[in-house]
Amino acid sequence: MRVLSGIQPTGRFHWGNYFGAIRQYIALQHEGDALYFIANLHALTTVRDAAQLQQNGLDAAIDLLALGLDPNRATLFLQSDVPEVSELCWILMSGASFGLLERCHAYKDKVARGVKPGVGLFTYPVLMAADILAYDSNVVPVGEDQVQHIEVTRDLASSFNHQYGETLLLPTARLVSDAARVPGTDGQKMSKSYRNTLDIFADAKVQRKEIMGIQTDSRPMEQPKDPDTDHLFQLYSLFASNSDRDAMAARYWAGGFGYGDIKKSIADLSGDYFAEARAHRNEIAAAPQKVHEILQDGASRARAKASEVLLRVKNACGLRTLSPKS
Ligand code: ADP
Ligand code: TRP
Repeated sequence: MRVLSGIQPTGRFHWGNYFGAIRQYIALQHEGDALYFIANLHALTTVRDAAQLQQNGLDAAIDLLALGLDPNRATLFLQSDVPEVSELCWILMSGASFGLLERCHAYKDKVARGVKPGVGLFTYPVLMAADILAYDSNVVPVGEDQVQHIEVTRDLASSFNHQYGETLLLPTARLVSDAARVPGTDGQKMSKSYRNTLDIFADAKVQRKEIMGIQTDSRPMEQPKDPDTDHLFQLYSLFASNSDRDAMAARYWAGGFGYGDIKKSIADLSGDYFAEARAHRNEIAAAPQKVHEILQDGASRARAKASEVLLRVKNACGLRTLSPKS
């Protein structure tokens, strides 16, 4: 089984990225042949500062390694280091209908929020399809927001196969949903776009302040509260043991407690939770050349597979003068 996923280097990773994506990627590296890439071509649609994009790519690699991605098990690389993907993207784009992309929620939501769409944003799902199809990926772990893009990938692959014969392997999405929606400091979904994130590798003191400043509701302290509707409780639950979680839930139901305690616990528990990764990160960041080598090695392994698939595709659709057998 080949597992593949990508994550955009648009800023520092936050708790939502970790519990909603990265943690599962890392767990899956033990289940099969795993390929993970840093989607810097996708990020190019939004990060338009060269030094920033370069730094983000390096930070993303260091973060993933620090969080447990093992380069001896999984292949880690930068998306832009595999040019075959961009070539495949064009081939797929040539057969993609406008309507298929116009129906994508991620695109529609951005436009609805007032983003002026560029061509890159519109064709984003085709590049994602090329990412997936270039490696004959079987399973693609993604958050809920990306499931539709896997459907688009399947559509593009099956229409290619229909036109040219069986060439591309249809992947399946694996929803990584046990922490489907991590709330941010304002109670909305945690997201860079909402500026409500708690970052995995933030400075501990600064982060403690941010946690103590999380918005809370204004119900009186005496009033019992339903823990499951409270974002502080949801954040606490990310880090607490089951028994601590149950005990905290009981305090909510009983009422009469302030939010300061739970905020303090979130700061303590999250600090402990990421302490090892934090230490590991410092070591990795001290040797950027090693990170570079890991990415280069990952890219050459990824390219070997992608060039094989691309050759199959080019033979199938008439982009080579010699027939497949000659
Ligand atoms: P952001 O919304 O901060 O820009 P991305 O869209 O780059 O984050 O998300 C990268 C991955 O992290 C995706 O797989 C997404 O599903 C997951 N993710 C992002 N935010 C959350 C969240 N608040 N809860 C759960 N998963 C999340
Ligand atoms: N679009 C994904 C996101 O924003 C990142 C991504 C790019 C990806 N290419 C992919 C995910 C291929 C899975 C497979 O989260």
